[in-house]
Amino acid sequence: MSLSRTIETPEIGGVQGPEPAPRKHVLDLDDFSQEEISAILESARSMKEVLRRDIKKVPALRGKVVVTLFYEASTRTRVSFEEAGKVLSADVINMSASGSSTEKGESLLNTGLTIQAMGVDTIVIRHPHSGAPHLLAQHLDKVSIINAGDGLHAHPTQALLDLYTVQDKLGSLEGMKVVIVGDMLHSRVAHSDIWGFAKMGAKVVLSGPATLMPTDLMRTSGDLARSSFASLVEVDTDLDQAIEGADVVMALRLQQERQHAGYLPSLREYIRRWQVNEDRLEKAKPGVMVMHPGPMNEGIEISNSIAHGGNSVIEDQVTNGVAVRMALLYRLTIGSGQEV
Ligand code: CP
Repeated sequence: MSLSRTIETPEIGGVQGPEPAPRKHVLDLDDFSQEEISAILESARSMKEVLRRDIKKVPALRGKVVVTLFYEASTRTRVSFEEAGKVLSADVINMSASGSSTEKGESLLNTGLTIQAMGVDTIVIRHPHSGAPHLLAQHLDKVSIINAGDGLHAHPTQALLDLYTVQDKLGSLEGMKVVIVGDMLHSRVAHSDIWGFAKMGAKVVLSGPATLMPTDLMRTSGDLARSSFASLVEVDTDLDQAIEGADVVMALRLQQERQHAGYLPSLREYIRRWQVNEDRLEKAKPGVMVMHPGPMNEGIEISNSIAHGGNSVIEDQVTNGVAVRMALLYRLTIGSGQEV
């Protein structure tokens, strides 16, 4: 079966343009076109079909090696990349900073060069410092780098699985009203989701305490503010107003250390004004999708009943994460137009 669709050669002013160069790295969504995102979501649809089989195994990446290199804790991203690689028959090696020579002071760059020298094909990296995956991408010429979350900067594979989940449920992303609630300043998920949803034509409304909101989009992403997508993104600190007519409401994890840093008046006040709960959702569209990237602080940014209720697609996000990461590993390693 075909696990991917060929990206059509683009037409430029009626003239057949060159086929885009195959992508080597996934660092953020800012350099993805709408066509490339659509092609990845289409590939993920084929991957999901593989995941529904009794025997979840295809030989697509046999003989390829994926290293997951995590300098921060993770459940969803690390395990789903491991599952994605194994379903595609890649050899997957999991590394964390703890127990590695990082503890003896080895630099990130030397760790990357060492892993590259072992002949791996792809490094999936999570790191507390923004830009760590970019550093590896600049200096390692034989491996693909996938950003699995870097500092406050980006989490592109989370954004792609969020896009997939909305498209899968609603049939389209264009014109959908997506309300993202919480800490926009410090959320790498929000930063990548804003790019992704806006590029796919959704209207994005950011809501939360003014202290955790960008006063203008320059503070969230200067490149976004300068792009043609900026008009699709709004800030409204009044969640009751922002949520009106929403197709999708996404709560972000409240990093409680923000309260100690003076960004929040109190948890009680945060819950009163910005918790995603039943009363608030009545103002959204009937059947509104409720999302959360996880891990959740249930009872704080989202009520328990909504987190596990009929509108929640939080577990679908996790399931879809495996398919989307399979699609990315496949496309980076084999290319976009190959048959398996
Ligand atoms: N959403 C997300 O990145 O979750 P993990 O930290 O568990 O990977």
